Amino acid sequence: MTEAADLLDPAERLDVEGLRALQLDRLRTSLRHAYDHVPFYRKSFDRAGVHPDDCRSLSDLSRFPFTTKADLRENYPYGMFAVPRDRIRRIHASSGTTGLPTVVGYTEGDLSMWADMVARSLRAAGCRPGDTAHVAYGYGLFTGGLGVHYGAERLGCTVIPASGGMTSRQVRLIQDLEPSVIMVTPSYMLTLLDEFERQGVDPRGTSLRVGIFGAEPWTERMRQEIEERFAIDAVDIYGLSEVIGPGVAQECAETKDGLHIWEDHFLPEVVDPLTGEVLPEGERGELVFTSLTKEAMPVVRYRTRDLTRLLPGTARVFRRMEKVTGRSDDMVILRGVNLFPTQIEEIVLRTPGVAPHFQLRLTTEGRLDSLTVRAEARPDADATAREAAARSIAAAVKDGIGVSAGVEIVDPETLERSVGKIRRIVDLREPRG
Ligand code: DLL
Repeated sequence: MTEAADLLDPAERLDVEGLRALQLDRLRTSLRHAYDHVPFYRKSFDRAGVHPDDCRSLSDLSRFPFTTKADLRENYPYGMFAVPRDRIRRIHASSGTTGLPTVVGYTEGDLSMWADMVARSLRAAGCRPGDTAHVAYGYGLFTGGLGVHYGAERLGCTVIPASGGMTSRQVRLIQDLEPSVIMVTPSYMLTLLDEFERQGVDPRGTSLRVGIFGAEPWTERMRQEIEERFAIDAVDIYGLSEVIGPGVAQECAETKDGLHIWEDHFLPEVVDPLTGEVLPEGERGELVFTSLTKEAMPVVRYRTRDLTRLLPGTARVFRRMEKVTGRSDDMVILRGVNLFPTQIEEIVLRTPGVAPHFQLRLTTEGRLDSLTVRAEARPDADATAREAAARSIAAAVKDGIGVSAGVEIVDPETLERSVGKIRRIVDLREPRG
């Protein structure tokens, strides 16, 4: 443990046995809470023939049924709540791509635990009381803005609640108010980078020291790009509304080796996405969470659709999750080959002559699906450099991923810019009849 021990929470100072005992105790209470107060869980446990009392060890959790996004939708808006409405202090919602939003609720206790977990995350990221944090995650029903806001205040930081958008003003605020920390999606950080350059301001010359990026997948290459261009440390923060919001897991500044899951509150499993079988530590699959202390909306074995693997703890006792490769819903299956936007990100970001902006366009050619990678030329790239970049990207996709893709190098500043979570895939495929 490299962090000064007196900065850590009591739970961060537990040994593995102490942590497992705490988790089991909390798990049993949380399963009982869900079963007693949420008709959905009572029905689903009964149907599976399990009862909270059957959970005598952490591995017994695998006997309990999964919960999916569809279950939350079917119980829209308040059916998953385990406390009376007058105990709910806040509502958030995630829009999702189709249909009804997923509504989540928090008691006063939940909001306090959430702020504690975000404060713990920020501390792990290298923030300290007295730091000024610029928050450019969106404020509103999205958990990003308000979630990190209260956590930063809890740690003792000054918060600049900039929210997303009005990019030129963001650059001005960063220059004038001199934050040491920025919290924003990695794709919006690149939009800010463009704006710094457009205004002729040196992005390496700001007061920023640490960037805490999440809400969407991003790669090691993107970390390098952001760290170099802004002269900051860039670390990853993970979370999802259904579990709490940002602050479920956080990468430590001193190791930058994946995200420590705050598993005294959020118990992780990784399962085979097809069979649901629990996979051993180290194997890649779908991340599943069970909340251990949530009051308003406990979740039992919630299927995140995020793909990663669990690794042993390093800078903390808690297990780590590898940087998320992507969501199972963002996986493109092209002529039998699985492909994630993050794989293309790695390639585009290491190709000379192109900017870190790209899009994946899916179309139907004859009866086959076809992929075109659209990447933006750097302003100084001439026709020869663009052609070389196109060839190099096509070859890397073919060699590294195993599919043929078209590559289009488009003019600078033509691809849509992110103001929050970026949409990488433009699906123009004809529906199959
Ligand atoms: O995105 C919460 C959040 C806000 C996390 C700000 C970090 C920073 P949702 O809108 O419910 O919540 O979306 C959750 O976003 O299941 C992942 O697919 C993706 N995601 C979140 N963080 C990361 C990350 C917020 N660090 C969904 N890396 C999750 C990759 C991430 N994907």
